[in-house]
Amino acid sequence: MKATGEVQTVVVCRKAVNTDLDKLAEIIHGYAEKGIMLPRSKEVLKYLLDTFVVAEADGELVGCGSLCQLGKDLVEIRSLGITDGFKGQGIGRMLVERLMEMSREMGISKVMALTYEVEFFKRVGFTVVNKEIFPEKVWTDCINCKKQHCCDEIAVLKQLV
Ligand SMILES: CC(C)(COP(=O)(O)OP(=O)(O)OC[C@H]1O[C@@H](n2cnc3c(N)ncnc32)[C@H](O)[C@@H]1OP(=O)(O)O)[C@@H](O)C(=O)NCCC(=O)NCCS
Repeated sequence: MKATGEVQTVVVCRKAVNTDLDKLAEIIHGYAEKGIMLPRSKEVLKYLLDTFVVAEADGELVGCGSLCQLGKDLVEIRSLGITDGFKGQGIGRMLVERLMEMSREMGISKVMALTYEVEFFKRVGFTVVNKEIFPEKVWTDCINCKKQHCCDEIAVLKQLV
């Protein structure tokens, strides 16, 4: 990880816990305001907490991501975000790898995401696919999305081996 002078930043990835709620809400709210992420209230985040992983850099929460089961063999990566100042240091990759590990533990082999960060997802092993191939994707969440009638996000998929 990033070296600051002689001091090496230590980044750890772990399951989210209750005390992460405020920071999680802050990160997601920031990206939701920009139309990059779906908004999540603290109540909803508390309910979904088990689906979240977080990254800590020297004890500071600097990133998050979650997994939503869409079907028998399909999960979606959601709410993946790194705070400014910590991007480009491998933390996004670390979170996606942890989420894929969770998917494997659930016995699920297909991981998808809807994103504007196509190059990032390609770098971590995903392929661009047509959104329509996901009949399991129930578009209920889209009701909460500002772009429900003009979704321009790109679908990416990784088949776990
Ligand atoms: C997308 C995001 C999660 C990436 O996290 P990150 O920690 O900056 O990414 P990493 O440092 O782990 O990058 C992994 C690889 O992807 C590449 N990469 C990351 N962002 C990239 C971009 N925008 N364009 C091209 N390549 C990119 C990195 O160079 C790296 O490549 P390497 O393995 O060859 O070194 C982060 O930029 C972010 O929070 N974006 C805003 C929120 C968002 O759009 N989330 C996605 C919602 S699905």
